[in-house]
This record gives sequence, C-alpha cells and structure tokens, in this order.
Amino acid sequence: MTTVTQQTTKPTDLLTLEELGGDGVRSLFETAAAMKANPAEFKGVLAGRSVIMLFEKPSLRTRISFEVGVARLGGHAIYYDHGAVKIGERESVKDYAKNLERWVDCIIARVFKHTILDELAYYASKPVVNALSDLHHPCQALADFFTLREHVGTTDGLKLAYVGDGNNVAHSLIMAGAMLGAQLTVVTPPGFEPQFDVLRKAMAYAQKSGAKITVTNDVEAIAGHDAVYTDVWVSMGQASQQAFRLAAFQGYQVDRELMALASKGREKPALFMHCLPANRNIEVTDDVIDSPSSVVYDQAENRMHVQMALLARLLGDGG
Ligand code: CP
Ligand code: NVA
Repeated sequence: MTTVTQQTTKPTDLLTLEELGGDGVRSLFETAAAMKANPAEFKGVLAGRSVIMLFEKPSLRTRISFEVGVARLGGHAIYYDHGAVKIGERESVKDYAKNLERWVDCIIARVFKHTILDELAYYASKPVVNALSDLHHPCQALADFFTLREHVGTTDGLKLAYVGDGNNVAHSLIMAGAMLGAQLTVVTPPGFEPQFDVLRKAMAYAQKSGAKITVTNDVEAIAGHDAVYTDVWVSMGQASQQAFRLAAFQGYQVDRELMALASKGREKPALFMHCLPANRNIEVTDDVIDSPSSVVYDQAENRMHVQMALLARLLGDGG
C-alpha cells in the first residue's frame, strides 16, 4: 500500500448514510422538498462545479437522475463507463483519485466492491458519493424515505416491511430506518439475511431514535405495515447464482395476497415500493407493481430531488 498524508480538510463523503446521521437526513429532506417545490430558486447552486460519474455496472435511474439534477443546479456531470475496465485495473485507485480531484468537485461511483469506494474516499480530497456498491445504496434509501414522508406524512414510527434479499438496498433501508425512528420488518429466506455488521451499526442508531428492527424468515410478519418493499432476487453481478437464488426465494414473491396481509388492520392499503429495475412476476406481480398503491415511479423521481439536495450540501452553499 502506498502511503499518503492523511486528509484533514476533506468534505463529507456519502458511502453508507452514517456520514449524515438522522439530523443530516432530516435536514436534507427539507432541502429536497424545497427544491422540488421551487426548482427555479436553486438553479445556480452548482454553477461552475463539475462531477464525475464512474459506473462499473449499468444504470437508468441513478445515471439520469444525477445528470439531470446536476444540470438543473447549473453544474456539469461527466459519465464515465467502467463496464469494461474496472476502477483500479488500468491504474491504481490512488492515482485515479489524485487525478480526478484536480478537475472535478465530486466523485460519484457505482462499484462492485464497496472497498473501492473506501479507497477512493481515502485518497480523494473531494467528496465521494456511493451510487451503489455490493453493500449499500444510500441515495436510493434517501429517496425511499423521502417518498414515504410524502405519502405517510412522517418517518417516525412508520412501519416498513422489506421482503426479499438482505442486500445493498436492504442494508441502506435499515440504516435510514434506524436513523429516522422507523419500525422496520426485514423478511428474507434463510441464508439471505442482512449482514450483522450493518444490523449492529443500525441498532446503535435505533437505540437513540426509538426505531425497531426485526429480521425474520417468516412472511406472515409483514401483517400490518404502511409499506411493503422488495428488490430483485438476483442483483447485478450475481447472474451465476440465478437458478439457486430463484429456487431459494420461492414463497417470498410480493403478490396480491401478501399486500392484503400487509394492509390488515390499516386504514389505507399498504404502499408498494421497489428501487427498480424490477423483474416483473418474479419478486413482484404485475397487479401489485401496477396497482394504485404502488409508488415506484415516485421513488424514481425522488432520486433526483434528494440527490440535488445532497450535492448542494456537499458542494454548494447547502441549498
Ligand atoms: N434504483 C436504481 O439504482 O436504478 P438504476 O440501477 O437504474 O440506477
Ligand atoms: N440490488 C440491486 C439494486 C439495483 C438498483 C443490485 O445491486 O443490482
């Protein structure tokens, strides 16, 4: 490992949501709501600023919502496709970060290995934003809780059930829910539970916020929730595990019966959520994702608003 002088004046990164904490997330939501309501007031916030977007995996929502969001704030976004050559393969991650920091104001990266983000963030003097790694998808969870705040009115005490793989999306939902005082029920097949390291960190936030996190293999546990969330059973990079995963997740599909169970005893039907892209009629049935209770396109739209608020916080004058 090459040695470098420790960065002491570096602005905050966003790799796991821990950098924001509950108060930071709440204040970001205030900015995002203001930006969504009055976009014209914020159009110069990133004037003269450039961001680089490094993507080792495909993307629709993350790429487009960042590009459009940066343009709306008067900044400039560069997309750099790393599908063929992974970050760190052509030159060291250190040299990569040390070059990029001379030109751009922020590094947004979608990577296979979360450790690449840690390394980029360690070496770069500019903020690094996680656009999805194997461990976390923080921008997604910000958009998701912002969407819940719009539809339910509050995140405090909100009951969210996540059904499916204890993956990157689940991890970030757990972190955000723990910081925001939500009641989170995570339902996975045996062997696909969220990582203990994430649960342990989330529990520390939950103790302060009053959040409750339950992890179970029993789908019946989704009874009585404000919203039900699912994600693909086979994430990007897991194609070789497809057959094994599809078999393991049988019984965990979000269908009409499961949504009826979630809505049991509630005034309103439970909302349906998905980060997208969805494998329709695999993890969720068409009638659920296309139902009036589905907020999946609100989630997609809100990616842009929360990310604009995030970049304003990291690079601008805080919005
Ligand atoms: N939800 C999400 O991150 O979508 P993309 O993979 O299309 O960016
Ligand atoms: N868990 C999925 C999320 C895609 C937005 C994946 O990592 O592929």
